[in-house]
Amino acid sequence: MNFQLTEEHLMIQKMARDFAQSELLPGVIERDEKQYFPQELIKKMGEQGFLGMMVDPKYGGGGLDTISYVLVMEELSKIDASASVMVSVNNSLVCWGLETFGNEEQKQKYLVPLAKGEKIGAFCLSEPEAGSDATSQKTTAIDCGDYYLLNGTKNWITNGNNASTYLVIAQTDKEKGHRGINCLIVEKGMEGFTVGPKEQKLGIRGSDTHSLQFNDVKVPKANRIGEDGIGFKFAMKTLSGGRIGIAAQALGIASGAYELALKYSKIRKAFGTEIMNHQAIQFKLADMATQIDAARLLCFKAAYEKDMGLDYGQSAAMAKLYASRVANYVASEAIQIHGGNGYVKEYHVERLFRDAKITEIYEGTSEIQKIVISRSILNA
Ligand code: CAA
Repeated sequence: MNFQLTEEHLMIQKMARDFAQSELLPGVIERDEKQYFPQELIKKMGEQGFLGMMVDPKYGGGGLDTISYVLVMEELSKIDASASVMVSVNNSLVCWGLETFGNEEQKQKYLVPLAKGEKIGAFCLSEPEAGSDATSQKTTAIDCGDYYLLNGTKNWITNGNNASTYLVIAQTDKEKGHRGINCLIVEKGMEGFTVGPKEQKLGIRGSDTHSLQFNDVKVPKANRIGEDGIGFKFAMKTLSGGRIGIAAQALGIASGAYELALKYSKIRKAFGTEIMNHQAIQFKLADMATQIDAARLLCFKAAYEKDMGLDYGQSAAMAKLYASRVANYVASEAIQIHGGNGYVKEYHVERLFRDAKITEIYEGTSEIQKIVISRSILNA
């Protein structure tokens, strides 16, 4: 097995690192405090090619592999996890879903502008009573001949307001259970579709999270993705890839917090010496670095399997389960190393600590990852 990154991978990693330092770092504390993310920054991420990096160039994407995606997600998340979640949702959930399951017309109309970063997409599965239990969709898409009549509410939707294209999962035939679910492409501006208020969040506060309401929205049949009734499998397959992105986000939060703690330990003095000279700090750094490396290897394994066309569902769930745990542990230890300074905003680790928590919740809680992993092990 080759653990060496290629020249191209190193170049992409550096590009993302430089972008994060020059464009994301300035203003990150203010964006977190005021809960906003400027359009101009989204545009810049699009121009860098981050928003559709894995899409085939014939549809306007970067044609890069999943390893490159992990590298970019890690670098952006070290500085601003609110930015990286947009990159993750647009790439893994929206673009991948459309590219893999959409027809040619849907790809030309919706995928191309999303892959070029000219538009942003949102993936709408979660509901007030259907987060983990994703088959219990209350949103309905009733078949009315040429169109579906869409009614219901979606919650905690990333890119909820900034998006123009929404992939909405809804129940068409309740009798058929998960085989009666469809995914519809909904455009902003369709009559009866409204964006609800912004969620007030603990972390990733810069990211644009809203509830959405659909009130008798007429969605053309041409906007259904795939055959009738494949919506649930579409969502599950799409989320498997999404979990690699969120695992890499968690990895980035961990490595960002670790790098800050390491740097701080070299300048902060206590008991007559830099704190890095105390074994109490050295042991913390050793634990943090070891766990981060293990999380990175799990991310690469899942990404490698996806690039090779192998079944990556179990590896993606393992990467997310482990990396999100590491993010929470490392961010907490980074605050501990910073002492009182770690508890205030200007040292950045308190934000990373708050941002870490969501990685154990979205795209399937840690408990959901354990369900996916244990089922995969037991069914092997
Ligand atoms: N690929 C393909 N098919 C899959 C699949 C996968 N990964 N996972 C399940 N399926 C299929 C099963 O084979 C089964 O099909 P058949 O009946 O034809 O055999 C069908 O789907 C139903 O599967 P299960 O019986 O396993 O379904 P379940 O009700 O037991 O639920 C679950 C499984 C894993 C718990 C699932 O509901 C789940 O993953 N829940 C979490 C949902 C989630 O991640 N939500 C996050 C929202 S999106 C988000 O957070 C985005 C954001 O903003 C950042």
